[in-house]
Amino acid sequence: MTKGKLAGKVALITGSGRGIGREIALRLASDGADIVVHYAGSEAGAMETAQAIRNLGRKAVTVRADISQRTQVRSMFTEMDKAFDRLDIVVNCAGASGGGTLADLDDDILAELLGVNFYGPLYVASEAARRLGDGGRIINFSSTTADFPPGGSGIYSSAKLAIKGFTEAWAKELGAKGVTVNSVIPGATSPGMFDKTPEPWRSQFMNASPFGRAGRADEVASVVAFLASPEASWVSGTHIRVNGAANM
Ligand SMILES: NC(=O)c1ccc[n+]([C@@H]2O[C@H](COP(=O)([O-])OP(=O)(O)OC[C@H]3O[C@@H](n4cnc5c(N)ncnc54)[C@H](OP(=O)(O)O)[C@@H]3O)[C@@H](O)[C@H]2O)c1
Repeated sequence: MTKGKLAGKVALITGSGRGIGREIALRLASDGADIVVHYAGSEAGAMETAQAIRNLGRKAVTVRADISQRTQVRSMFTEMDKAFDRLDIVVNCAGASGGGTLADLDDDILAELLGVNFYGPLYVASEAARRLGDGGRIINFSSTTADFPPGGSGIYSSAKLAIKGFTEAWAKELGAKGVTVNSVIPGATSPGMFDKTPEPWRSQFMNASPFGRAGRADEVASVVAFLASPEASWVSGTHIRVNGAANM
Protein backbone atom coordinates (compact mmCIF):
# COMPACT_ATOMS: atom_id res chain seq x y z
CA MET A 1 0.00 0.00 0.00
CA THR A 2 1.35 3.42 -1.00
CA LYS A 3 2.11 5.72 1.90
CA GLY A 4 1.75 9.47 1.58
CA LYS A 5 0.35 12.48 3.36
CA LEU A 6 -3.12 11.75 1.92
CA ALA A 7 -3.05 8.00 2.69
CA GLY A 8 -6.51 6.78 3.70
CA LYS A 9 -8.28 9.82 2.23
CA VAL A 10 -10.82 9.86 -0.58
CA ALA A 11 -10.86 12.79 -3.02
CA LEU A 12 -13.41 13.82 -5.63
CA ILE A 13 -12.00 15.93 -8.46
CA THR A 14 -14.62 17.31 -10.83
CA GLY A 15 -13.55 17.51 -14.46
CA SER A 16 -10.65 15.08 -14.08
CA GLY A 17 -10.96 13.40 -17.47
CA ARG A 18 -8.69 16.08 -18.93
CA GLY A 19 -6.92 19.38 -18.34
CA ILE A 20 -5.98 20.66 -14.90
CA GLY A 21 -8.40 18.30 -13.14
CA ARG A 22 -6.65 15.26 -14.54
CA GLU A 23 -3.28 16.54 -13.28
CA ILE A 24 -4.77 17.15 -9.83
CA ALA A 25 -6.25 13.65 -9.69
CA LEU A 26 -2.85 12.12 -10.50
CA ARG A 27 -1.05 14.34 -7.99
CA LEU A 28 -3.45 13.59 -5.11
CA ALA A 29 -3.21 9.88 -5.93
CA SER A 30 0.61 10.18 -5.83
CA ASP A 31 0.18 11.69 -2.38
CA GLY A 32 -1.77 8.58 -1.32
CA ALA A 33 -5.47 9.43 -1.84
CA ASP A 34 -8.05 7.22 -3.49
CA ILE A 35 -9.81 9.16 -6.23
CA VAL A 36 -13.28 9.70 -7.63
CA VAL A 37 -12.69 10.74 -11.24
CA HIS A 38 -15.62 12.86 -12.42
CA TYR A 39 -16.36 13.64 -16.07
CA ALA A 40 -19.20 14.93 -18.22
CA GLY A 41 -18.25 14.22 -21.84
CA SER A 42 -14.67 12.91 -21.58
CA GLU A 43 -15.44 9.28 -20.78
CA ALA A 44 -12.30 7.90 -22.44
CA GLY A 45 -10.13 10.52 -20.69
CA ALA A 46 -11.72 9.66 -17.34
CA MET A 47 -11.06 5.94 -17.88
CA GLU A 48 -7.41 6.74 -18.69
CA THR A 49 -7.08 8.91 -15.58
CA ALA A 50 -8.58 6.15 -13.43
CA GLN A 51 -6.24 3.54 -14.91
CA ALA A 52 -3.20 5.78 -14.31
CA ILE A 53 -4.31 6.15 -10.67
CA ARG A 54 -4.67 2.38 -10.27
CA ASN A 55 -1.18 2.02 -11.74
CA LEU A 56 0.01 4.19 -8.84
CA GLY A 57 -1.50 1.64 -6.45
CA ARG A 58 -4.55 3.69 -5.47
CA LYS A 59 -8.26 3.01 -5.91
CA ALA A 60 -10.18 4.96 -8.54
CA VAL A 61 -13.80 5.06 -9.68
CA THR A 62 -15.30 7.14 -12.49
CA VAL A 63 -18.60 9.00 -12.18
CA ARG A 64 -20.48 11.01 -14.78
CA ALA A 65 -22.59 14.12 -14.22
CA ASP A 66 -23.44 17.39 -15.90
CA ILE A 67 -22.76 19.48 -12.80
CA SER A 68 -25.16 22.20 -13.92
CA GLN A 69 -28.00 19.72 -13.21
CA ARG A 70 -28.66 19.24 -9.51
CA THR A 71 -30.36 15.85 -9.92
CA GLN A 72 -27.29 14.54 -11.76
CA VAL A 73 -25.00 15.82 -9.01
CA ARG A 74 -27.16 14.10 -6.38
CA SER A 75 -27.05 10.81 -8.30
CA MET A 76 -23.29 11.14 -8.65
CA PHE A 77 -22.88 11.42 -4.87
CA THR A 78 -25.16 8.41 -4.33
CA GLU A 79 -22.88 6.44 -6.66
CA MET A 80 -19.80 7.67 -4.78
CA ASP A 81 -21.36 6.64 -1.46
CA LYS A 82 -21.62 3.09 -2.81
CA ALA A 83 -17.97 3.04 -3.91
CA PHE A 84 -16.40 4.62 -0.80
CA ASP A 85 -17.54 4.88 2.81
CA ARG A 86 -15.92 8.30 3.27
CA LEU A 87 -15.17 11.57 1.50
CA ASP A 88 -12.35 13.88 2.59
CA ILE A 89 -11.41 16.20 -0.27
CA VAL A 90 -13.52 17.86 -2.94
CA VAL A 91 -11.84 19.78 -5.75
CA ASN A 92 -14.39 21.85 -7.68
CA CYS A 93 -12.26 22.01 -10.83
CA ALA A 94 -14.75 21.56 -13.70
CA GLY A 95 -15.43 24.77 -15.56
CA ALA A 96 -16.11 26.22 -18.99
CA SER A 97 -14.97 29.48 -20.54
CA GLY A 98 -16.60 31.54 -23.26
CA GLY A 99 -18.52 34.72 -23.58
CA GLY A 100 -19.45 37.40 -26.00
CA THR A 101 -20.11 41.08 -25.99
CA LEU A 102 -22.77 42.72 -23.88
CA ALA A 103 -24.76 43.88 -26.91
CA ASP A 104 -24.92 40.29 -28.23
CA LEU A 105 -25.92 38.62 -24.96
CA ASP A 106 -26.86 35.03 -25.80
CA ASP A 107 -29.28 33.19 -23.48
CA ASP A 108 -27.79 29.76 -24.19
CA ILE A 109 -24.23 30.88 -23.43
CA LEU A 110 -25.46 32.64 -20.29
CA ALA A 111 -27.21 29.48 -19.06
CA GLU A 112 -24.24 27.25 -19.90
CA LEU A 113 -21.57 29.42 -18.29
CA LEU A 114 -23.58 30.06 -15.14
CA GLY A 115 -24.60 26.39 -15.01
CA VAL A 116 -21.07 25.03 -15.08
CA ASN A 117 -19.18 27.78 -13.27
CA PHE A 118 -21.71 29.00 -10.67
CA TYR A 119 -24.47 26.43 -10.04
CA GLY A 120 -22.21 23.41 -10.59
CA PRO A 121 -19.66 24.10 -7.83
CA LEU A 122 -22.54 25.12 -5.54
CA TYR A 123 -24.44 21.85 -6.12
CA VAL A 124 -21.27 19.80 -5.62
CA ALA A 125 -20.28 21.65 -2.45
CA SER A 126 -23.81 21.35 -1.03
CA GLU A 127 -23.71 17.55 -1.30
CA ALA A 128 -20.12 17.53 -0.01
CA ALA A 129 -21.07 19.66 3.01
CA ARG A 130 -23.31 16.82 4.26
CA ARG A 131 -20.48 14.30 4.03
CA LEU A 132 -17.21 16.06 4.88
CA GLY A 133 -16.02 15.87 8.48
CA ASP A 134 -13.01 16.89 10.56
CA GLY A 135 -9.97 17.43 8.32
CA GLY A 136 -12.21 17.80 5.26
CA ARG A 137 -11.28 20.04 2.34
CA ILE A 138 -13.13 21.96 -0.36
CA ILE A 139 -10.89 23.53 -3.00
CA ASN A 140 -12.67 25.77 -5.50
CA PHE A 141 -11.47 27.11 -8.84
CA SER A 142 -11.65 30.81 -9.62
CA SER A 143 -9.68 32.50 -12.43
CA THR A 144 -7.31 35.42 -12.89
CA THR A 145 -9.96 36.85 -15.21
CA ALA A 146 -12.16 37.29 -12.13
CA ASP A 147 -9.57 39.71 -10.75
CA PHE A 148 -8.81 41.39 -14.11
CA PRO A 149 -11.86 40.80 -16.35
CA PRO A 150 -11.16 41.29 -20.07
CA GLY A 151 -13.94 42.76 -22.23
CA GLY A 152 -16.25 40.04 -23.52
CA SER A 153 -15.64 37.80 -20.48
CA GLY A 154 -18.27 39.32 -18.20
CA ILE A 155 -20.32 36.18 -17.55
CA TYR A 156 -17.38 33.82 -17.02
CA SER A 157 -15.39 36.34 -14.97
CA SER A 158 -18.36 37.20 -12.76
CA ALA A 159 -19.16 33.54 -12.12
CA LYS A 160 -15.50 33.03 -11.18
CA LEU A 161 -15.65 36.08 -8.90
CA ALA A 162 -18.68 34.52 -7.20
CA ILE A 163 -16.47 31.51 -6.42
CA LYS A 164 -14.42 33.74 -4.14
CA GLY A 165 -17.59 34.80 -2.32
CA PHE A 166 -18.73 31.18 -2.00
CA THR A 167 -15.32 30.23 -0.64
CA GLU A 168 -15.34 32.80 2.13
CA ALA A 169 -18.95 32.07 3.15
CA TRP A 170 -18.52 28.27 3.08
CA ALA A 171 -15.29 28.54 5.11
CA LYS A 172 -17.34 30.22 7.85
CA GLU A 173 -20.14 27.64 7.63
CA LEU A 174 -17.92 24.58 7.61
CA GLY A 175 -15.09 25.66 9.93
CA ALA A 176 -17.02 24.42 12.95
CA LYS A 177 -16.92 20.92 11.42
CA GLY A 178 -13.14 21.16 10.92
CA VAL A 179 -13.48 21.56 7.15
CA THR A 180 -11.33 24.12 5.30
CA VAL A 181 -12.54 25.88 2.15
CA ASN A 182 -10.19 27.73 -0.20
CA SER A 183 -9.90 28.73 -3.81
CA VAL A 184 -7.06 28.68 -6.29
CA ILE A 185 -6.84 31.33 -8.99
CA PRO A 186 -5.02 30.01 -12.05
CA GLY A 187 -3.88 32.19 -14.91
CA ALA A 188 -3.35 30.82 -18.42
CA THR A 189 -2.56 27.13 -17.86
CA SER A 190 -1.70 24.21 -20.11
CA PRO A 191 -2.88 21.53 -20.50
CA GLY A 192 -6.29 23.11 -20.07
CA MET A 193 -8.72 25.55 -21.63
CA PHE A 194 -5.88 27.96 -22.45
CA ASP A 195 -4.76 25.55 -25.19
CA LYS A 196 -7.79 26.60 -27.26
CA THR A 197 -7.09 30.33 -26.93
CA PRO A 198 -6.41 31.86 -30.36
CA GLU A 199 -3.89 34.56 -31.18
CA PRO A 200 -3.54 37.43 -30.40
CA TRP A 201 -5.09 36.56 -27.02
CA ARG A 202 -2.71 33.65 -26.54
CA SER A 203 0.40 35.86 -26.63
CA GLN A 204 -1.29 38.54 -24.57
CA PHE A 205 -2.10 36.05 -21.79
CA MET A 206 1.48 34.73 -21.77
CA ASN A 207 2.98 38.21 -21.79
CA ALA A 208 0.68 39.25 -18.94
CA SER A 209 3.07 37.28 -16.73
CA PRO A 210 6.59 38.64 -16.22
CA PHE A 211 7.70 35.05 -16.82
CA GLY A 212 6.38 35.37 -20.39
CA ARG A 213 4.78 31.95 -20.44
CA ALA A 214 1.63 30.03 -19.49
CA GLY A 215 1.56 28.00 -16.29
CA ARG A 216 1.64 24.21 -16.28
CA ALA A 217 -1.23 22.18 -14.86
CA ASP A 218 1.21 20.40 -12.53
CA GLU A 219 2.14 23.80 -11.04
CA VAL A 220 -1.52 24.32 -10.18
CA ALA A 221 -1.84 20.75 -8.91
CA SER A 222 1.01 21.29 -6.41
CA VAL A 223 -0.88 24.15 -4.79
CA VAL A 224 -4.06 22.06 -4.64
CA ALA A 225 -2.01 19.23 -3.09
CA PHE A 226 -0.80 21.61 -0.38
CA LEU A 227 -4.33 22.87 0.37
CA ALA A 228 -5.56 19.27 0.49
CA SER A 229 -2.81 18.22 2.91
CA PRO A 230 -2.81 18.21 6.72
CA GLU A 231 -0.12 20.94 6.50
CA ALA A 232 -2.83 23.41 5.37
CA SER A 233 -5.05 22.79 8.41
CA TRP A 234 -5.10 26.51 9.37
CA VAL A 235 -5.56 27.87 5.85
CA SER A 236 -9.24 28.55 5.20
CA GLY A 237 -11.42 31.15 3.53
CA THR A 238 -8.59 32.36 1.34
CA HIS A 239 -7.53 32.47 -2.31
CA ILE A 240 -4.18 31.61 -3.83
CA ARG A 241 -3.18 33.05 -7.18
CA VAL A 242 -1.22 30.50 -9.22
CA ASN A 243 -0.52 32.66 -12.24
CA GLY A 244 3.11 33.80 -12.33
CA ALA A 245 2.07 37.32 -11.26
CA ALA A 246 -0.07 37.74 -14.40
CA ASN A 247 -2.41 40.69 -14.57
CA MET A 248 -4.93 39.21 -17.00
N1 LIG B 1 -6.53 26.47 -18.16
C1 LIG B 1 -6.62 27.77 -17.92
O1 LIG B 1 -5.99 28.58 -18.62
C2 LIG B 1 -7.48 28.27 -16.76
C3 LIG B 1 -7.30 29.60 -16.35
C4 LIG B 1 -8.06 30.09 -15.29
C5 LIG B 1 -8.96 29.25 -14.64
N2 LIG B 1 -9.12 27.98 -15.07
C6 LIG B 1 -10.10 27.15 -14.37
O2 LIG B 1 -9.50 25.90 -14.06
C7 LIG B 1 -10.50 24.88 -14.05
C8 LIG B 1 -10.04 23.73 -14.93
O3 LIG B 1 -9.95 24.21 -16.26
P1 LIG B 1 -9.17 23.45 -17.43
O4 LIG B 1 -8.22 24.40 -17.99
O5 LIG B 1 -8.71 22.13 -16.96
O6 LIG B 1 -10.38 23.30 -18.47
P2 LIG B 1 -10.62 22.26 -19.64
O7 LIG B 1 -9.37 21.58 -20.05
O8 LIG B 1 -11.41 23.00 -20.66
O9 LIG B 1 -11.56 21.19 -18.94
C9 LIG B 1 -12.81 21.57 -18.48
C10 LIG B 1 -13.32 20.48 -17.55
O10 LIG B 1 -14.59 20.86 -17.05
C11 LIG B 1 -15.51 19.80 -17.26
N3 LIG B 1 -16.85 20.30 -17.55
C12 LIG B 1 -17.19 21.24 -18.47
N4 LIG B 1 -18.54 21.39 -18.49
C13 LIG B 1 -19.04 20.52 -17.57
C14 LIG B 1 -20.35 20.21 -17.12
N5 LIG B 1 -21.45 20.82 -17.59
N6 LIG B 1 -20.49 19.28 -16.16
C15 LIG B 1 -19.41 18.67 -15.67
N7 LIG B 1 -18.14 18.91 -16.03
C16 LIG B 1 -17.97 19.83 -16.98
C17 LIG B 1 -14.97 19.04 -18.47
O11 LIG B 1 -15.45 17.71 -18.42
P3 LIG B 1 -15.62 16.78 -19.73
O12 LIG B 1 -14.42 17.00 -20.59
O13 LIG B 1 -15.72 15.42 -19.16
O14 LIG B 1 -16.89 17.22 -20.39
C18 LIG B 1 -13.47 19.16 -18.29
O15 LIG B 1 -12.98 18.13 -17.46
C19 LIG B 1 -11.80 25.53 -14.53
O16 LIG B 1 -12.61 25.83 -13.43
C20 LIG B 1 -11.32 26.81 -15.21
O17 LIG B 1 -12.29 27.81 -15.20
C21 LIG B 1 -8.40 27.47 -16.12
